[in-house]
Amino acid sequence: MKPRIKVLDTTLRDGEQMPGLALSPEQKLEIAVALDELGVDIIEAGSAIVSEGEREALKRIVRQGLKAEICSFSRGVKEDIEAALSCEVDSVHLVLPTSDIHLRYKLRKSRSQLKEMAREACRYALDHGLTVELSAEDGTRTDPQFLKEFFSVGKEEGVQRLCVCDTVGVMTPDRIQQLFSDLAGSFDLPLSVHCHDDFGMATANTVSAVRGGAREVHVTVNGLGERAGNASLEEVVMALHYFHGFRTGIRFRKLYQTSRLVERLTGVPVPPNKAIVGDNAFSHESGIHTHGVLRFPGTYEPLSPELVGHHRRLVLGKHAGSKSVEKELREMGLRPTRDQLREITKQLKALADKGKRITDADIRAIAEHVVGKLPAEKKVVEIKEIIVNTGNTITPTASVRLLVRGKERVGSSVGVGPVDAAINAIRNSLSEVHGLKLKEYHLDAITGGSDALAEVTVKLEDERGNLYISKGVKEDVVLASVEAMVNGINKYFLRKG
Ligand code: KIV
Ligand code: ZN
Repeated sequence: MKPRIKVLDTTLRDGEQMPGLALSPEQKLEIAVALDELGVDIIEAGSAIVSEGEREALKRIVRQGLKAEICSFSRGVKEDIEAALSCEVDSVHLVLPTSDIHLRYKLRKSRSQLKEMAREACRYALDHGLTVELSAEDGTRTDPQFLKEFFSVGKEEGVQRLCVCDTVGVMTPDRIQQLFSDLAGSFDLPLSVHCHDDFGMATANTVSAVRGGAREVHVTVNGLGERAGNASLEEVVMALHYFHGFRTGIRFRKLYQTSRLVERLTGVPVPPNKAIVGDNAFSHESGIHTHGVLRFPGTYEPLSPELVGHHRRLVLGKHAGSKSVEKELREMGLRPTRDQLREITKQLKALADKGKRITDADIRAIAEHVVGKLPAEKKVVEIKEIIVNTGNTITPTASVRLLVRGKERVGSSVGVGPVDAAINAIRNSLSEVHGLKLKEYHLDAITGGSDALAEVTVKLEDERGNLYISKGVKEDVVLASVEAMVNGINKYFLRKG
């Protein structure tokens, strides 16, 4: 039986060190609760010495009484440990740089001075009842003999765990595996690994360190972190499970929702091609792939999307095949003949060749052109009236009158601009769409000049991760935006039945 691997999530510390990122105590608490529910063993929730807000966040997370161990990052100095103690955390991630380059240029201390600092810091933290994970910053560029001397100090003092940081991401899988098997042979304490992604190797290196003997992995949700980021939680746990059968406490099904929560609260978008949690991780466009997936998903999916709480998507675009076009048309209630299907597919590809993103309105328009008049599209929501007030001295406001299944509804709202106010007013009048998120908003001027036609494309996402891409075209940007939004909402209602 493979050993169970502990997960230390450092989204709230190393992840937050990503340039430009700052989280409020409320946001940190919300993420910590989600990490606990995800099954993370240790949450490095911040660094108590950093600021009043950081201490407030740590205290609130501690008071929440989560199952996970709550840890504060701490440099190997007394004032950091005291700040951590003031927040009543369970443990400190006690970090000292060990490479010559850091010792000479950053710390300006000798190796023996560093060992003395480590001894004092470990003793102080342990004497005050903290669990201590002693970390060698830039450990992978440290003389291996000195790394062992440094860890021996921690062991003599009684620390609970030892961690090697690949601070600048320079390891390779075979070298890090070798390093950990050597350390595992010398120390009978749990070893942890902390990798950065400067060469895109963080996940592979973390997994290899575990193969070498690491029993804890440091990771962040969505791979957030300094520079190129940290090893990503979702990638590491799935790779440990899929390739090597290592167990963790992570509830895989919560991976996608946790990733989206972190995306929303940090404002850092998840790249569409991000492994496991990206929008495209289980999306298929090309004819060959969609055909295969429709017959048996395993043809082009190594994992099923449901396993990680994600969803499959078949996308119509330049590479689409007739099978996926047929499926989409059937969802619209159409059953074209074989020739009609071929023609519709051809015209859709021609549109995509022009660089257009295919929306439902495009599919309908082309299908209508090929098949003849289609039955009127069922609209759950119709716009009866919209009034927008804007100017340079007032807050933009909007009010709307809608017909929802024939019944009138009204709503109003303010916004940062007239488009925002109008979209907010629609949302306010439709409580049924509160779970629907506006993922993308795109505005194009179709013709030149100030009387240009505005084409707005929106991408909406529902609670289950289904996407709705819709369009509105009008001379007025606000009206085009409202039309696009309402078209998307109608598509959502139709799918929900
Ligand atoms: O990458 C790193 O070395 C770190 C340490 C400071 C723990 O984040
Ligand atoms: Zn780091």
